[in-house]
Amino acid sequence: MAESIPFPVDVQKRVEILRQQIRHHQYRYYVLDEPEINDTAFDSLFQELQSLEAHYPALHDPNSPTVRVGGVVADRFEKVRHPVPVLSLANASGEEELRAWRERLLRLLPEQEQARLGYVVEPKFDGLTVVLHYEDGRFVLGTTRGDGETGENITPNLSTLPQLPLQIPVDPHSNLVQPTSLIVRGEAYVERSAFEAFNQAQAQQGERTYANPRNFAAGSLRLLNSGISAMRPLKLWTYEVLHAINSSETAITGHIRSPEGSHWQQQQLLRAYGFPVCDEARRFPDSEWEELIQFITNWHELRAHLPYELDGMVVKVDLLAQQERLGFTGKDPRWAVAFKSGGVEAATKLLDIVVKVGRTGVVTPNAVLEPVIISGVTVQAATLHNADYIEELDIRLGDRVLVTRAGDVIPKVIRPLPELRDGREQPWQMPRACLSCGEMLERPLGEAATYCVNNACPDQLVRKVEYFVSRGAMDIVGFGEKQAELFVEEGYIHTLADIYRLPWAQIVEIDGYGDKRIANLRQAVEESKSRGAMRLFIALGIRHVGAGIAELVMAHFANLYELMDADVDILSAIDGVGPTIAEAIVAYFTLDPNRALVQTFEDLGVDLVTPDSLLAGTTNPSPAAWFAGKTFVITGTLPTLSRNEAKAYIEARGGKVTGSVSSKTDFLLAGEKAGSKLVKAQKLGVPVLAEDELLHSSTVGH
Ligand code: IVH
Repeated sequence: MAESIPFPVDVQKRVEILRQQIRHHQYRYYVLDEPEINDTAFDSLFQELQSLEAHYPALHDPNSPTVRVGGVVADRFEKVRHPVPVLSLANASGEEELRAWRERLLRLLPEQEQARLGYVVEPKFDGLTVVLHYEDGRFVLGTTRGDGETGENITPNLSTLPQLPLQIPVDPHSNLVQPTSLIVRGEAYVERSAFEAFNQAQAQQGERTYANPRNFAAGSLRLLNSGISAMRPLKLWTYEVLHAINSSETAITGHIRSPEGSHWQQQQLLRAYGFPVCDEARRFPDSEWEELIQFITNWHELRAHLPYELDGMVVKVDLLAQQERLGFTGKDPRWAVAFKSGGVEAATKLLDIVVKVGRTGVVTPNAVLEPVIISGVTVQAATLHNADYIEELDIRLGDRVLVTRAGDVIPKVIRPLPELRDGREQPWQMPRACLSCGEMLERPLGEAATYCVNNACPDQLVRKVEYFVSRGAMDIVGFGEKQAELFVEEGYIHTLADIYRLPWAQIVEIDGYGDKRIANLRQAVEESKSRGAMRLFIALGIRHVGAGIAELVMAHFANLYELMDADVDILSAIDGVGPTIAEAIVAYFTLDPNRALVQTFEDLGVDLVTPDSLLAGTTNPSPAAWFAGKTFVITGTLPTLSRNEAKAYIEARGGKVTGSVSSKTDFLLAGEKAGSKLVKAQKLGVPVLAEDELLHSSTVGH
C-alpha cells in the first residue's frame, strides 16, 4: 500500500498535525479572541503547510485551513434546495406587541406547559443569513438563505471566513461526538469600524462603497472571486441548529435537536464544537417576564457596547418541545419574534460639537458623530438646537448618545447614555465669540437662541446668499453653497445686491469656471431679476417670512416699496399674519441698510413689482403663483389625503405630479413609510414636504 502513496508517510503526518494546530490557533484567535501564540509563530506554521501542500498536490484537502485565502472562481452560484425550510421571523415593534406575542403563547400552551415556559433573548444580527452543512464533521456546503426554500451555494466564499470551522469539533480531543450530518444557521456580518474603514478606503480609490453593513456582508459573500471575499473583514455568529443526525442515534441528537433539548443548550453545544456563538444571550423563565421586558426595551444600551450593528433583538421560546408544539404560520415560527423599538434609534459617540452661523445670525450647535447607520442611512451629524438643549440633557463631549431620525428624516440627538461614561467626558459651552467674524455672541433675555449680531459676518453672509439664490427664492440655477462661499471669500459679495454685480471677468480666471459655465451662470443671474416682488421678499431672508407668508403679504402691496412703508397694524391686519411676523417685517425695513438694499436692487434692474395674478382683489389670492409649473412626487402614506386627493390638490393649483424623483423634481410630498424615493430626494437635495406643509404652504421654500 505504501508504494501507491505519492508522498512520504511522515509528510502526510506532518501535514495533518499542521492542519490541526492551525485550526486550533485560528479558533483561539478568531473565535475565542485568546491567542496562545504570536503572529510570527502562527505564520511559520501556516507557511510550512502551504509549501508542503504546494509540493505534494495529492495532499490537497478542500477543508485545509489554507483554503481560507480563497481563489476558487465560479462563474455563477448554483441553487441549492434547503433540506429543511429556513424560516423567517415575525416582528413586534414596541413593548405592546411583544406582550401580545406572549399572551398568544399562553393561550396556545396547556397549563402544565406554561409552568415550563422560558425564553432566550439574543441580538438580532444585521448581516447575511447563511446555512452551513457539515458531513462527518467536515464543512461541505454553505448557502445563502434565499427565499427560505432554496439558497445559493457560496461555499468557497464562506470557507474564507476565519471564524467558520472547517472541521468540527475543532478540538479533536473533546469528548463530543462527531455528528454524521449537521446543519447550522448563522449570520455573516461586519463590525462597524471595519465597515467604515473599508468604505473610506474604497471611496478614496474611487471604488464602490456599501450603504450599510448588511449590504456589505451580502455583497462580499456573493463576489464571484472568493479571493476578494477573503480580503473582506467578515465575521460570523451561529445561533440555530436546523438539522442534526447521528448514525449512533441519540448521542448527539439528544442534546441538539431532540424535544428534551433547549435553544440555550444548542448554543452551548455549538460553542463547544468550535462555532462562534454570541455570549450576549440571556435566559428568562416566564415568571421573570417583566425583567425580560426591561432588558429588551433597553437594547440600544447593549448595542452601544457592541462593535457590530444590531437589527433589534430576538425572543425565542427556549424548550424545543414547546417550539415544536407552537409551530409556525406561513414562514414565521410562532415561538420566536424579532423585537424592534417603535422609532429607529442608534447609539453612537459624540465626537465634537461645532457651531454654525445661520443666515439670520442664529448660532446652532451641531453634533459631530461617529458614523452610525439608522434605517439604512449613515448619520454623522445632528442638530443640538441650542445651548439650553445641551445643558438640560447634560450632553457632554465624548458621550455615547442616542440618535434618531426625526420623522425618519432629520437626525436628532435624543439623549446621552450617562451609564456608559468613563469619566473623560467634558461639558460643553457655547463659544463667547463668533468663530467666523470674532464678534461677541449675544443671547437675548428669555430666548433660547444665541446670535451673531454682526451683519457683516462672513458665515452669515454665505448663508444669506445661499438662501437668496435657492430654488424657493430667486432660483438661480448653478449658484449654490459652493459659489456662495467662494464669492464671499473672494470678496466679491458684501451685500446681497452684489450678486447682481459680480466681476465676471475676474471669475472667469478662477479654476473650474470656464467661459461656458460663466455664461450660463451669468444668464441665470440675469433671468432671476424678473422673479417679481414676492420672490424677492422671500429671498431677503426676513425672520418668519417663508413662501406662504410672503404670498399672503405681497397680495396686499403693489410693490416692495409699498410694503417697506407698511406698519405693524397694517401688516397684522392681514389674515394669517400675526404680530410677531408683522414686527419682524417692520424691524427689517426700519434699518437703513435694508431700505438701501431694496433701492440698489431696483437700480440693478431687479423687478420689485407684484404680479397682478397675486394682488388681492383679484378675489383669488391665487396659490397658483406658488404651485404653477412645479413638479411634485408623492410617496408614503399621507395622514389625511389619499394619493389621488393630494394629486388633485396639486394639479388644481397648477402643479404637476410625476412618478419618480429626479433632479427635475421640485418637491417630494412624503408620508409615513416613505422609502427609496425619500432617500433619493435627500440625495438630490429635493425639498421634502409633509402633508400639512403642502396644505398651508407657509413653510414651503425654506
Ligand atoms: S432566529 C426560526 N436569531 O433575521 C428562527 N434569526 O428577520 C428564525 N437573524 O433571516 C431565526 N439574528 O436569519 C434568529 N439571533 C437571531 C438572528 C436571526 C439575525 C436573521 C434571521 C432571519 C432574519 C429575520
